[in-house]
Amino acid sequence: MSIVCKSAAEIEKMRRSGRIVRAVLDHLRTLVAPGVSTMDLERAAEQKMKELGAKPAFKGYYDYPCVLCTSVNEEIVHGIPSDKRVLKAGDIVSIDCGVVVDGYYGDSAITVPVDGSITPELKKLLDVTEAALYKGIEQARLGNTVGDVGAAVQEYVEANGFSVVREFVGHGIGTRLHEEPQVPNFGSRGHGPRLREGMVLAIEPMVNAGKPGTRVLDDKWTAVTVDGACSAHFEHCVAVTKEGPLILTQ
Ligand code: MF3
Ligand code: CO
Repeated sequence: MSIVCKSAAEIEKMRRSGRIVRAVLDHLRTLVAPGVSTMDLERAAEQKMKELGAKPAFKGYYDYPCVLCTSVNEEIVHGIPSDKRVLKAGDIVSIDCGVVVDGYYGDSAITVPVDGSITPELKKLLDVTEAALYKGIEQARLGNTVGDVGAAVQEYVEANGFSVVREFVGHGIGTRLHEEPQVPNFGSRGHGPRLREGMVLAIEPMVNAGKPGTRVLDDKWTAVTVDGACSAHFEHCVAVTKEGPLILTQ
């Protein structure tokens, strides 16, 4: 398969999916609190998607069982919602959400503090990861390369003393959840596929407070840090346009 560029009309459709993903995440953010389980978030997301007329993108994808991925503390990505995982004061939770509307996908993630008692180090981890996402987005311009995006993310993260995950990457997105190209959160400027008008990228830095190493739990999905340090994840879908990067998931 090769990289599929989207027409203006297709990008408009992806904007609709993107807006719905945003609405779901904005709603979930208000529900996060000590005592809430990750399955409570899952149920709320399923309900909200139904209300907004969107189908979940993740449920059934390679047999993934839920509409959300909810990854707490040292979990990096692909945490499976569970009634047993009850959020507590001082935790952080990454919520990753995807929908499909009229055949086009939207995918976005946020990491939120469960309450105001997170440590200053964790607060910095969240701020740096979100800012790194915007450093990457800024590079999603005609004539730049995928390597420019990854390098911008990596440089910013490492300058702040954290590390980027290597084993999981961003991706093209459109009529499928995962399209070419892969969009690593590391790289070298000028390397990788060149960005062209109509490409849509899901840029999604996963940033570890400690070492970059990852491992996957026995549930076959949940990726955690090898050193047990916390990890954060933010994601937007971004179209490459003549006018510059256009964020579809906001
Ligand atoms: N945002 C994640 C990704 O792009 C979510 C995929 S979860 C899965 O890989 F269950 F759908 F695989
Ligand atoms: Co994604």
